[in-house]
Amino acid sequence: MKRSIIKSTGMFVPPNVITNHDLEKMMDTSDEWIKQRTGIEQRYWIDQEGVTGSSDLGFEASQIALENAGWSPQDLDFIIFATLSPDIMFPGSGCLLAAKLGLDSTPALDIRQQCTGFLYGLATADAYIKSGLANKILLVGAEVHSSGLDKTTRGRDVTVIFGDGAAATCIEGVETDESVGVLAASLHADGNLAEALMAELPASRLPVRLPPGLPTDDARYFPVMDGPAIFKKAVRMLPKVINESLEKAQISLDEIDLIIPHQANMRINQALGQFLKIDNNKIFHNIQKYGNTTAASIPLALHEAMEQGRIGKSGDVVLFAGLGAGLTWGSAIYKFL
Ligand code: UT7
Repeated sequence: MKRSIIKSTGMFVPPNVITNHDLEKMMDTSDEWIKQRTGIEQRYWIDQEGVTGSSDLGFEASQIALENAGWSPQDLDFIIFATLSPDIMFPGSGCLLAAKLGLDSTPALDIRQQCTGFLYGLATADAYIKSGLANKILLVGAEVHSSGLDKTTRGRDVTVIFGDGAAATCIEGVETDESVGVLAASLHADGNLAEALMAELPASRLPVRLPPGLPTDDARYFPVMDGPAIFKKAVRMLPKVINESLEKAQISLDEIDLIIPHQANMRINQALGQFLKIDNNKIFHNIQKYGNTTAASIPLALHEAMEQGRIGKSGDVVLFAGLGAGLTWGSAIYKFL
């Protein structure tokens, strides 16, 4: 049977480190508040003067992943690009990335599932591989948040948590009788809670997408979030969706070597550990360095966890989980070949 195997990973963050102290100079916040409430110490932002899109960060991460897989871009038969911050309104960043990779006919699909973009992308890649539609897939999660954040006190609850970054995985269909690769995935969405985390403009539902004369600091340009509501939802739904995947894969929590949750808030992931009654060192954290990189967060954490030797040996089992805008939430279980 065909199994979907993660052959390699790659990551890239832009060079500008923005510490909590840097944010203190822009808005009424403090290093202490940010660290205590979120666990974040710094994040990376693109150069605020230049032109850098999520496909540019995705390109850098993809080149590393491709090199690590020993693949050339021409080997790819499908590209999946997950982002909530596409370079432009359309076409999708997957098409832009494909062009940057020197490709001119490889199919490219954008996924707009925010913090669960990697989970939706992994499930899609797995389905494409198992159905025979594709066999060598590049799955990228990339975000440029910094150009769309409200850097005044009005936006502080949102702005302090997000960072720019990208990560890519090369996923290959491999014929084997072993139960390896993507073992299970559970995905959910509830658009009734769309307004709990959204950026409203530009909006095709309005008579004019960008109402004329709108001040550039109009709040609707920037993400707004009901942080406490999302926090509570994450703590409630993540254990449930993790159990769903465990049941689908027919394995127990004890058999999971590492949980890689979406990095939205250190306290959410610590609460998850308490709820599941598992040792905190079984949960991977890197939010302190990168903040919340949304679609890039899980693959970026996977890349680092593998580099640190926390996961990646044959037979290791990793569980991914996340919840974010949409709302969307999900989990997936992966066993290394
Ligand atoms: O990845 C997408 C999914 N998103 C999430 O998972 C985010 C989930 N939510 C969270 O992580 C947290 O709700 C936040 C980190 C966003 C906020 O933390 P909180 O502990 O829920 O704080 P809060 O929103 O209840 O605000 C508490 C206080 C408020 O002041 P008052 O009303 O008590 O005087 C806020 O105005 O903290 C204030 N506050 C800040 N103070 C300093 C909010 N943001 C900041 C800030 N710096 N950056």
